[in-house]
Parts: sequence; structure tokens; C-alpha cells
Amino acid sequence: MKDKCILVTGSSSGIGRSITERLLNSGAKVIGLARDHSKFTNIHQNYLTYQADLNDLSNLKLIINKIIKDNDEINGLISNAGYGAFGPLENFSIEQINSFITLNLTAHIVVSKLLIPHFKRKKIGNIIFMGSEAGLIGTKNGSLYCSAKFGLRGFSQSIRNDISSSNIRVCIINPGMVRTEFFENLSFSPGKDVTNAINPDEIAKTVMNVLAMEESTVVEEINLSPLKKVVNFL
Ligand SMILES: NC(=O)c1ccc[n+]([C@@H]2O[C@H](COP(=O)([O-])OP(=O)(O)OC[C@H]3O[C@@H](n4cnc5c(N)ncnc54)[C@H](OP(=O)(O)O)[C@@H]3O)[C@@H](O)[C@H]2O)c1
Repeated sequence: MKDKCILVTGSSSGIGRSITERLLNSGAKVIGLARDHSKFTNIHQNYLTYQADLNDLSNLKLIINKIIKDNDEINGLISNAGYGAFGPLENFSIEQINSFITLNLTAHIVVSKLLIPHFKRKKIGNIIFMGSEAGLIGTKNGSLYCSAKFGLRGFSQSIRNDISSSNIRVCIINPGMVRTEFFENLSFSPGKDVTNAINPDEIAKTVMNVLAMEESTVVEEINLSPLKKVVNFL
């Protein structure tokens, strides 16, 4: 992976942190983007961090252009940052709905839009979106989360067709429950048994496999589930 320089959004925690660790261990250069990097302080010479709130769309052009200017060799994006919000739709304010969709859908689209011209100039690129099983089927109390993940999946499928002629590969990974900090502010979590949630390092290994595929082959979508789905409600 020594030829890879990859922007990982949400690198400070959970799945993004595991992906970052695997990429660094394989010799790739990683550009981590999150609001709070103190949660993951990996002092690795190939790990550069940028602090940004992806909800602030007006700042994204500035930050992504700076990342490109500082790291001309950038050739990949793991578009991963996100959070969960579940419950009856009427419990969410309009501001909460707007903010949720901004981070979990619009920010992924805008970061892609800002990076794709650079990948096109370089005639190489890998984009991997962190989707969810919630992008495969609508679930009770999942109206916002499913809307964002279905939208992200549609975006991934569509953009893949638009940019494959420029040697840019696009993949979306759709995991079921993964044991991360994602559940800290939610009213449910996976069961305690190891079989009840995916280890985030398994997602990281999946990302490595997708990236290692011969350039002529695209892994379009991958669905992953815990062996035994058990949900604990608070
Ligand atoms: N865990 C699961 O069961 C599961 C299952 C399927 C899909 N996913 C998806 O996987 C992705 C990662 O989730 P995770 O499980 O790794 O959760 P996590 O441990 O809570 O990590 C979320 C990451 O997103 C970043 N982030 C959140 N809001 C942000 C903002 N406004 N601006 C910039 N970065 C922000 C966080 O960094 P800061 O807080 O430092 O900003 C953190 O690094 C999400 O898209 C989630 O929907 C998770």
C-alpha cells in the first residue's frame, strides 16, 4: 500500500480509526479528518491530521483544497464519518433533521465532489463509502438513518458509473452492527457476545482487500453482518 495516500473521514474513532491503523501498518499515508483527534493520537510519520466539522459545509471547500495542496499525491477517500439517530420522525426538530442529513449524506457528496477533479487529473482514485445495512432495508425508528444510508448507496452506485472512465473505483460497504463508540449516545447497543457485533478491524480488513484488488476490477458493494444479531435496549 506504499503507493496509497488516503483521506479517512472520521479517523478519530471506531471504524475510521481501525481503517487508519491498518492503512498505516501497510505503509500507506493517511490523512485523518475529524473534529477531535485527541481521541486517537497515533504519532506515525505517515499520519497527518486535519481538524474540521463536516457539518459546516461552507468550510469544506477550504479544508479539502488545503488537504489537496498539502498532499498532491492523495489518491483515495474513505468517506466514513457519521453518527446514528433513531426514533419516531416527529421527535426530531427540523434543525436536527437538517443537521443529520448534512453530515450523513450531503457531506459525503460534497467531499467527493471536491476530490474527484484531483483524482481525474491524476487518472487514479479509490473511493469507499461507509454505508450500512440500513441502506438496504427500511427499519422501524430508522427513518433518518435509513434515508441517509439509502441516499449514500444511490450516490455511490451513480457516481461509480460517472467516473469509472477516469480510472476511479467506487465501493460502498454496508455493515450491520459494529462494536464502536457509535452506540454511546443511543438507546440500544449490540449484545455483549463477540458474535453479536462486527469487530471494527474486520471492516478495516475488508477495506484493505477492496484496495488491494487489481486496478481493472471494482468491488461495488459489500454487505457484512454479525453472526448472531442481538440488540440490547436500555
Ligand atoms: N457502528 C456501527 O454499528 C455501524 C454500522 C454500520 C455503519 N456504520 C457507519 O460507520 C461510520 C463510522 O461509525 P463508527 O461506528 O466508527 O462510529 P464512531 O466510533 O462514533 O465514529 C464516528 C467518527 O465520525 C466522526 N464524526 C462524527 N461527526 C463528525 C463531524 N461533524 N465532523 C467530522 N467528523 C465527525 C467522529 O469524529 P469526531 O467526533 O472526532 O469528530 C468519529 O471519528 C458511520 O458512517 C456509521 O454510520 C456504523
